[in-house]
Amino acid sequence: MADPTEGRSNLENTGSKRSVPPGPDEAKATILVVDDEIELGRALSKLLGRNGYHVLTASNGEEGLATLRQNEVHLVLSDLQMPKMGGLDLLKAAQVISPFTEFVIITGHGTIEAAVGAIKNGAYDFIEKPFSTTTTLNVVGKALEKQQLKAENQKLRQQLEKIQGMNDIIGNSRPMQIALDTASQVAPSTATVLLTGESGTGKEVFASALHRLSDRSTKAMVRVSCAALPDNLLEAELFGYEPGAFTGAVGQRKGRFEVADGGTLFLDEVGEMSMTTQVKLLRVLQEGVVERLGSSVPLNVDVRIIAATNADLEHLVELGSFREDLFYRLNVINLELPPLRARGGDVILLANFFLQKYNERNKKNISGFTKAATDVLGRYSWPGNVRELENAMERAVVMCRGDFVDEQNLPKNVVEGRQRLDALSLPVGTTLKDAEMALIEATLESTQGDKETAARILGIASRTIYRKIQ
Ligand SMILES: Nc1ncnc2c1ncn2[C@@H]1O[C@H](COP(=O)(O)OP(=O)(O)OP(=O)(O)O)[C@@H](O)[C@H]1O
Ligand SMILES: [Mg+2]
Repeated sequence: MADPTEGRSNLENTGSKRSVPPGPDEAKATILVVDDEIELGRALSKLLGRNGYHVLTASNGEEGLATLRQNEVHLVLSDLQMPKMGGLDLLKAAQVISPFTEFVIITGHGTIEAAVGAIKNGAYDFIEKPFSTTTTLNVVGKALEKQQLKAENQKLRQQLEKIQGMNDIIGNSRPMQIALDTASQVAPSTATVLLTGESGTGKEVFASALHRLSDRSTKAMVRVSCAALPDNLLEAELFGYEPGAFTGAVGQRKGRFEVADGGTLFLDEVGEMSMTTQVKLLRVLQEGVVERLGSSVPLNVDVRIIAATNADLEHLVELGSFREDLFYRLNVINLELPPLRARGGDVILLANFFLQKYNERNKKNISGFTKAATDVLGRYSWPGNVRELENAMERAVVMCRGDFVDEQNLPKNVVEGRQRLDALSLPVGTTLKDAEMALIEATLESTQGDKETAARILGIASRTIYRKIQ
């Protein structure tokens, strides 16, 4: 028998994006027997089938390749000399299309040399015709062990890549490291995640990362803002509708749940959802089926829910404006994002990150911050969190003429360490409607366009702001 590890190193580096088939322990291992001698193939299949393996057969390399394309195969047992495509060519093709499949050569007398050649090309081992039951099962068992190890290693590598896949989220502080850890842990599961935290803390950024690092990443992440739409439109958006479901429902439309099937549905600002919509949402989450408005045909959907809110949902539950049962359904895993003021050195880290971003965007080459600017950035409380910092940095890059961002390039309120509370003066004679609009606009300006914070300041639902500015 040949050294099982000889000549195998190149297999790991095929660079194929094909997903890793489960190891034989997780599912019954699938073995593909490729032999042009029908009788022999049949005998081998019988032996393997009796020993608990799931067996597929092919009578030449070409057929074998087609089977490999369509099935997750853990091990191929293949003859070398066959009409059409031979065993060696099949081996080479398999390494590209199915790199986690192990290969064992079946060889007759006088072809040992060719079998050794196949091992040099990456086959695990060979078995000789006529084969003994013990040797065959032994070699098969070992080859599958190796296959499983390789698949597991690849899985670990993929996990590592996934953790590294979060490096667009900047944060070294302890509370951020905790949040990032939790996120990488829960991303691969299908558990519902509730992202909480003040406005601008990165809830949407985390939602995207959770989706990207999940097995659903090849499918869509669909975002629905529960604040942007009035009740009936939100329901139409979420669940879809049939013609005539309501006035104006002309055609038929898929809901966001359907669009997100197999992927992730991101329910943003979920605290803004009305009680009636909450009831309908709860039903969908409990039953896993949606019905379009105006239809009673239940549609199965497989959707992972990520919800976000900057409201205190528990408080809303106490107030009776958020359903307790829905809260518990959404809050399976709570990922709370810390406010920027609790992230210490992250402020400077983020400031540098945004400096690079806006340098590139504005074709500038600013090297950093003066000492005075750094002090100001570190001292300010950032009520608008990362979003406020990002906006300040964009402005600073545009305003800065030297090599370093200085104090004077930063917003006045930041330098003075106060939240912007500019007075609004309105001439008598202004209509109530115009006054309202002016106040909303001024507040939005003070929050750098952040509607949720503005709504909080104004004491109205952010839904109302969206409506008014439309
Ligand atoms: N840790 C981070 N690293 C880099 N960029 C970040 C980070 N956190 C947030 N950002 C950026 O800050 C901005 C605000 O983030 P995001 O929209 O995710 O906040 P949010 O919590 O959803 O806010 P809101 O509650 O107002 O919707 C975005 O431009 C985002 O790219
Ligand atoms: Mg958001």
